[in-house]
Amino acid sequence: MPSRSVEFPPALISLLRAASKVAVLTGAGVSQESGLRTFRDAQTGLWAQYKPEELASPEAFARDPKLIWDWYAWRREAVKSVRPNPGHYALASMEKHIPSFSLITQNVDGLHRMAGSQRLLELHGNIQRVRCAECYTFTETWEDDSEAVPRCQECGGLLRPDVVWFGEALPRDQLEAAVEAARSCDVFFSIGTSGVVQPAASLAFAARNRGAVVVEINAEPTPLTSKADYFLQGKSGEILPELLKQTWG
Ligand code: OAD
Repeated sequence: MPSRSVEFPPALISLLRAASKVAVLTGAGVSQESGLRTFRDAQTGLWAQYKPEELASPEAFARDPKLIWDWYAWRREAVKSVRPNPGHYALASMEKHIPSFSLITQNVDGLHRMAGSQRLLELHGNIQRVRCAECYTFTETWEDDSEAVPRCQECGGLLRPDVVWFGEALPRDQLEAAVEAARSCDVFFSIGTSGVVQPAASLAFAARNRGAVVVEINAEPTPLTSKADYFLQGKSGEILPELLKQTWG
């Protein structure tokens, strides 16, 4: 529950009530209140402890596959033990009020789907899915070995998480749908993302250039803030449920 009641601009509430197309981009900040660390938040971000380029890249996996496999196994376990928070649920509920709604996420944790979101585009993959690094075959089961990375039963290649690493292309169908949603929406939300990783970060600008109203929800200002029509500063798990309540009751 919010510690204080938030007053939203009446024009924003009216806009949302009238909106027929809404696109939402989320980042790691949306899952922060579920207990997952964000990537870049000072002190607590995963990257305060690790250099991302040493972990989230195909080169790193080629150099030391076991280190990368173990890091993702550790993150997969962390994700298994957390639940969606009120921000995830509010977005699942927003979907029901908007005729054409797209939730675009950079998160690989699967919490939006767990909260009930259906029109979901996962731009950076999903940490729970595992596939072969060579032949792309997906697998549900594998045997963890303390010495080596498990191998594909089809071709013997190394298994890896089905997430997007630095330097890799985003899933084409998801990206194309996200760009289309951004270009055609009336309102674009950017929530809990630092907005520094492309191409996701450009979606808000694509929406703005096509005349959408851009609403940012973040604990801190970001490079998008000065360009947004509305900046709602605070925790998404507090702001979103309150925004839903004031808009649709
Ligand atoms: P970041 O860690 O870069 O940013 C998290 C953002 O969430 C920051 O702007 C915080 O201020 C904000 N934040 C933290 N707690 C919040 C809360 N409770 N409510 C609202 N906002 C909050 O995470 P992302 O922007 O998601 O990609 O990072 C984007 C991508 O960078 C990731 O998907 C990952 C990484 O490279 C890949 O691994 C390909």
